[in-house]
Amino acid sequence: MSWRADVLSIFPSMFPGPLGESLAGKAMEAGSWSLKVTDIRDFGLGRHRSVDDTPFGGGAGMVMRPDVLDAAIGSVADERPLIVLTPRGAPLTQKRVRELAGGPGVILLCGRFEGIDQRVIDARQAEEVSIGDYILSGGEVAALVLLDAAIRLLPGVMGAAESAVEESFSAPLLEYPHYTRPAVWAQRAVPETLTSGNHAAIAAWRLAAARQTTKTRRPDLYNQYIASGASAP
Ligand code: ADE
Repeated sequence: MSWRADVLSIFPSMFPGPLGESLAGKAMEAGSWSLKVTDIRDFGLGRHRSVDDTPFGGGAGMVMRPDVLDAAIGSVADERPLIVLTPRGAPLTQKRVRELAGGPGVILLCGRFEGIDQRVIDARQAEEVSIGDYILSGGEVAALVLLDAAIRLLPGVMGAAESAVEESFSAPLLEYPHYTRPAVWAQRAVPETLTSGNHAAIAAWRLAAARQTTKTRRPDLYNQYIASGASAP
């Protein structure tokens, strides 16, 4: 049985979007994963198939109704984790992505408007996930991000060379910079060590570069790396 993704959205035409192309698209064609998109509006109420209403307690914007969302969820729910994409969620990590890729698939609920009635999230024991500390106009793009990250880890989707890259993020250092031909471009030469053919020196150069970049850009990751036993340079 291949990995199954369900997406619940009021903008079903946003899917598969970029996931129909490139690595994910080929993997879908090959049957490594499948996608079913459900239009939440199919469960909407009344002549206008309404899915939202004004917030209790007042305030701007609209809130997605729990009864409508529960019916939409009920139409696809099974043993797979139910994830709500929201900026209020726990930050998505490579560790969680790896766990999700190792399971049967996911059910993703994309929020729009100001939010989702909390009762349906609680009742369905949904996991609230954020893809970063910024506000998107809805959960759809976040769902595409989560799916992309998981699909590339499914068995047989990536070649061995690319799998190694995933491992390097778990190091946890940022990657070293990359260079290819020409060796001199716009009066900029490739770092000399990389053209030396000395594999030990190249490995040392890359590690030093990765550490320096991580220290500057992501002191949080760098401190974890040092705490996990790496000696400071
Ligand atoms: N919806 C809006 N912003 C989001 C974010 N940062 N992560 C996940 N879902 C979102």
